[in-house]
Amino acid sequence: MIIPRKFRFLGGLFFLGLCFLWGGYEGNSPSRMLEELERDALDLYREMESHPRGDRNIVLVLARETSFRKFGLWPWSRKIHGRMVQLLGNARTIVLDLIFPDNQSSEEDLFLAQAVKEHGNCIVGAHFVKEGDENVLILPYPELAASARYLGVTNVVPDLDGLYRFITPLWDYGRGSLPSISLAACLGDTGISPGITREPRGISLLLGERALPMEPFGGIWIAPWNYEDYPVYEYVDVLEGKVPWSSFEDALVIVGMDVSGAMVQDMVTMPWKTGTRTIPGAAFVALGMETLLYGNPPRALFRHEIAFWVLFWGVLGGMAGFFCNPRWSWTVLLLLLGGLLGIPFFLLKHAGLWFPPVIPLLELLLVYMVALFIRLVGLYRSLRLGNFYSEVLSSLTKQEGVITPGAYLKEVWPKIQELTSITLLKKHASPKRMEKLLEGGGRLLTREEGTWLIKIPFSPFPYRLFIQPPSGWGGLLELGWKRRVSREDLKRAVALVLSISWFGVALRREEERLRAFQGAIRAVAAAVDAKDPETRGHSDRVALLSRALAEALELPSEFVEELHFGALLHDVGKIGIPDAILQKPSRLCEEEFEAMKAHPLLGQGILEPVHLPKVAVQGILEHHERLDGSGYPKGLKGDEISLAGRIVAVADAFDALSSRRTYKDQWSLERIFAYFRENRGVRYDAKVVDALFRIGETWYEEELPGGGLKESKTGKEEVLE
Ligand SMILES: [Fe+2]
Repeated sequence: MIIPRKFRFLGGLFFLGLCFLWGGYEGNSPSRMLEELERDALDLYREMESHPRGDRNIVLVLARETSFRKFGLWPWSRKIHGRMVQLLGNARTIVLDLIFPDNQSSEEDLFLAQAVKEHGNCIVGAHFVKEGDENVLILPYPELAASARYLGVTNVVPDLDGLYRFITPLWDYGRGSLPSISLAACLGDTGISPGITREPRGISLLLGERALPMEPFGGIWIAPWNYEDYPVYEYVDVLEGKVPWSSFEDALVIVGMDVSGAMVQDMVTMPWKTGTRTIPGAAFVALGMETLLYGNPPRALFRHEIAFWVLFWGVLGGMAGFFCNPRWSWTVLLLLLGGLLGIPFFLLKHAGLWFPPVIPLLELLLVYMVALFIRLVGLYRSLRLGNFYSEVLSSLTKQEGVITPGAYLKEVWPKIQELTSITLLKKHASPKRMEKLLEGGGRLLTREEGTWLIKIPFSPFPYRLFIQPPSGWGGLLELGWKRRVSREDLKRAVALVLSISWFGVALRREEERLRAFQGAIRAVAAAVDAKDPETRGHSDRVALLSRALAEALELPSEFVEELHFGALLHDVGKIGIPDAILQKPSRLCEEEFEAMKAHPLLGQGILEPVHLPKVAVQGILEHHERLDGSGYPKGLKGDEISLAGRIVAVADAFDALSSRRTYKDQWSLERIFAYFRENRGVRYDAKVVDALFRIGETWYEEELPGGGLKESKTGKEEVLE
């Protein structure tokens, strides 16, 4: 089925429009699923970031199962932690990623607060809890809070897919803001004061010389580094002195837990490689701190910028699908995909910007496919036109005899019109018509080798193409169409029109020439027969019988036609034989007969300038040769004689025997058949003689135009020499 051009155009436009609407909308406010895919892409791209060797010397002390077995259920006595702080005395900074929410001040609590105070550079965790709709800040007990250098919020916020990808450096509460524990550790360890700065692309956290981009939701993307680079010690091992003190010399020690169970839970799940991993909260704090100090957290492009690039890549995909040759548009698509996937790398590395490629990629593929589909539908139609063109040409070459090209064109045109929407307006338009159209406001668009393309405004067919067919056609062909037709379609249609008209004219000329040629040959044959009134009609009869024999032998039609010419002219050499011999009423003497024997060669010589086909020449030259070598002029034997020669020989002999001559009566069919039976395979070809037996009777009775009744008076017919 062919989709009408108008619907194809509108339908294509509609689908493309849908693709662009979708892309623009999703680019600007992506659906949850696509946004999660964007996060996965971010993980994959950031996977490549290498972990710089910082100068912070971070050490983790984690309470694992062993420690819990030793000290029992949480919470432990604060004395234990106080002891830990004392033992870590040589550490530069201690981060207690532990929560001490209770509001009591027992002796043990005071011991811990005292130890923290003595160290002087301890960071202690605080946290928010949800109470109804409100976040309520829970601080450590007052003595501990007062001893800490900084308080840091231990809460972490999951990303939309539940994974932890960012830290929230600052937490606002009623009377101000608190740093996250990562930022607090950073501040305590370096002594830098933080700040906030507003940049064109959004807010940044200022840390000394570094400005870290904060996303609108307040997060900073955490570096995707491996936490296993940090030395980790078991809590109880440190308390029991199993870890050398030098391990903590001038280090930043983060004390936390590495358990996941019903009683306590301080584990964080992060993206890792192509999946996820769950790490201790203390490790997350360390990674967050290192991100602030050495990382390159990116800033996401604005959504409206992403939407713009989505549409941009959609346009590129559409161009690849629609304008590139479908065979290698795949390559273009792959190049575009490669380019698109390379852009986030480049931006991350050189501008610290995050351009999520997921939606642009989908848009690129989508628009590409829609455009390619539209193009393929067009190509399919064009292909059908091409096929139809070949069909018409092959059916034209199989035409026999004369075709009327005008009628033929009219017959095939509905199909062309269906495929191209080009109408055949006139088959024989006069050149004056074209002139009139031009004078009446038509504009000549192009003029190339016998074609004129004219545009006529406000006409039912605003585009007209006049084609000059081959001479002899009579007038110009006039095509018309309403909307623009593709160049390929137009070329094909014009080629088809010209092929048909050329072919028709050529076939007609060929037919005329053939008829003239046949007439000329018949005239020559008649002239030969006229030289000897006794053999009138002989050439015609031999020609017809030869044709009948060849057809009975099922020889190809081309052979039959050529043989017919040869048989018609087989005795043309007799023109060169003196009338005295030809018309001698009595038997020829030996000398005269020798002269007579030259007629096949004479005939060949006479016809040489005509360039008759080989089969015809063989018929003329060899119709007196006999299988046993008794014939003339060359005395050829067996296979040396051509098939054409053998057929004409049988036909010639049959006609001579079935005619009355002066020296003999017309033989009866029985007698003729007896003669051929005797000479079958001896003088005459067995197969040809067999063919004669099959058709001879009919031929003898019906086809001989008065042959059997003809007068014969001379004894010169060679067959009975
Ligand atoms: Fe002859």
